[in-house]
Amino acid sequence: MSAVPDIMLNNGQSIPQFGFGVFQVKPDETAQAVTTALQAGYRHIDTAEMYGNERQVGEALAKSGVDRSEIFVTSKLNNDSHRPDDARRAFDRTLEALGSEYVDLFLIHWPLPTRYDGDYVSTWKTMEEFYHDGRARSIGVSNFQPHHLRRLHGETEITPAVNQIEVHPYLTQDEVRQFCADYQIAIEAYSPIAQGLVLTDPTIDEIARRAGKTPAQVVLRWHVERGDIVFPKSVTPARISENIEIFDFELSGEDVEAISALNRNERTGPDPDKFDWIPG
Ligand SMILES: NC(=O)c1ccc[n+]([C@@H]2O[C@H](COP(=O)([O-])OP(=O)(O)OC[C@H]3O[C@@H](n4cnc5c(N)ncnc54)[C@H](OP(=O)(O)O)[C@@H]3O)[C@@H](O)[C@H]2O)c1
Repeated sequence: MSAVPDIMLNNGQSIPQFGFGVFQVKPDETAQAVTTALQAGYRHIDTAEMYGNERQVGEALAKSGVDRSEIFVTSKLNNDSHRPDDARRAFDRTLEALGSEYVDLFLIHWPLPTRYDGDYVSTWKTMEEFYHDGRARSIGVSNFQPHHLRRLHGETEITPAVNQIEVHPYLTQDEVRQFCADYQIAIEAYSPIAQGLVLTDPTIDEIARRAGKTPAQVVLRWHVERGDIVFPKSVTPARISENIEIFDFELSGEDVEAISALNRNERTGPDPDKFDWIPG
């Protein structure tokens, strides 16, 4: 069994550095995938109201026999619910769907700077309510750029515990990661294997052959050694096991640098400054 390290967040709460993501997992496949992940030793699940599978995550948690306190659960505020009263209702829905009295971490999913008159500040102040009433043990943001974070810093009380952003070898995000390090905001690296895109890269393949590991394991290990939190998604049982088997080897400093040097500032997902999608 792999020993996943914990990372201490800026509010003293700890989070397993490695977990399981359920973006694009169909609702009717979610309970099985989460069950397989829990059996493989994962203790951190990343979902969102937008993914449409919070309820099935909750079902798998309830049936697992693992105590709720041993599993770190994250969910996210949907794009249609940024206004304070909508956010309060959305958070109630999330807890009800997950069948839990709290989440370990609740995030603003997207900043949506071109929506809601550019006001993600009142949304964040509503997130602070959930933190103060104890139903969100930690609160954070996702897809926030440094200029969005700077505004929260100037106008609100609580520094986000995390910023969940797209990071992988083709998008190393040096500027956002440095900003967050300076403000003690932990980085969660989403799409950590670029949804599979980086797995055929020759540099990664060469390092994987030398390490006797798969390309996915090498890339996930690279994230861990850079200190980021990761939660790859898979519905394939063999990959779910493969992805967590990364705590029995290390990469050399040169290998970490060689992978970081693959950066091309290439996103697989939308640009956070432009993304404005609201579910209809
Ligand atoms: N906050 C946000 O806006 C945001 C956006 C995107 C993602 N996320 C979070 O980050 C999580 C992970 O990101 P992601 O789902 O976009 O992409 P990802 O984890 O980088 O890649 C998932 C894809 O890679 C495949 N895969 C997984 N393990 C593999 C392996 N060992 N070998 C070969 N292929 C493998 C999966 O296929 P199979 O499933 O078919 O096995 C799936 O197609 C999400 O689930 C979600 O929790 C957050």
